Amino acid sequence: MADHAKTRAVVLISGSGSNLQAFIDQVESGELDLELALVISNKAEAYGLQRAAKAGIATKAIDHKRFESRQEFDQALMAQIDTAKPDIVILAGFMRILTAEFVNHYTSRLINIHPSLLPKYPGTNTHQRALDAGDEWHGASIHYVVPEVDAGPIILQGRLRIKSDDTENSLQQRIHGIEHQLYPLAVKWITENRLTVSKNRVLLDGETSAQQLQTFDL
Ligand code: GRF
Repeated sequence: MADHAKTRAVVLISGSGSNLQAFIDQVESGELDLELALVISNKAEAYGLQRAAKAGIATKAIDHKRFESRQEFDQALMAQIDTAKPDIVILAGFMRILTAEFVNHYTSRLINIHPSLLPKYPGTNTHQRALDAGDEWHGASIHYVVPEVDAGPIILQGRLRIKSDDTENSLQQRIHGIEHQLYPLAVKWITENRLTVSKNRVLLDGETSAQQLQTFDL
């Protein structure tokens, strides 16, 4: 961590930003001791940018379509992120695949939330895939980012039982409920310096903890 007391975060979004809102709410209520230094979206119209502005957080839109290549976009993104000198970079519904160069630049500082119980269902359509497979459980995972998409050591997972009448939409909504509780919690653990990674596993206070898999009745 850098030498300033409060953990500084840059949040990357592409859309609604309901997870960003969960961070804003917990920072405002004092539950989470985090400096939300900058929110960046690759889409200027992302509603999350309005949420950030309303909360008095600096915002920036960088349209990926303006760049010739993924590399050039990622370079511009890195340059912008680094102006904010973040301790952590939070991917919160950022819908771009990042280059290995970008990911390696933020090793151990870059986290993501993914709407499945990883390693199940990396990629998209996770809710429908869980339904199609007849799974008993579905959930969300918060993990450190490595160059391979939706891989990387898992910090925390939340799960719920799939109901017989669940649809893709109902599942998505219930999983969002998990995300909004657990993503700020994972970041809280980071701000409290409680996480370490050993042999590709994330430890809480030096051990694997039952708190890292939480079951919800939503
Ligand atoms: C979440 O479901 C997250 O798991 C996925 O993108 C979605 C973002 O939602 N990576 P929001 O923009 O935070 O509302």
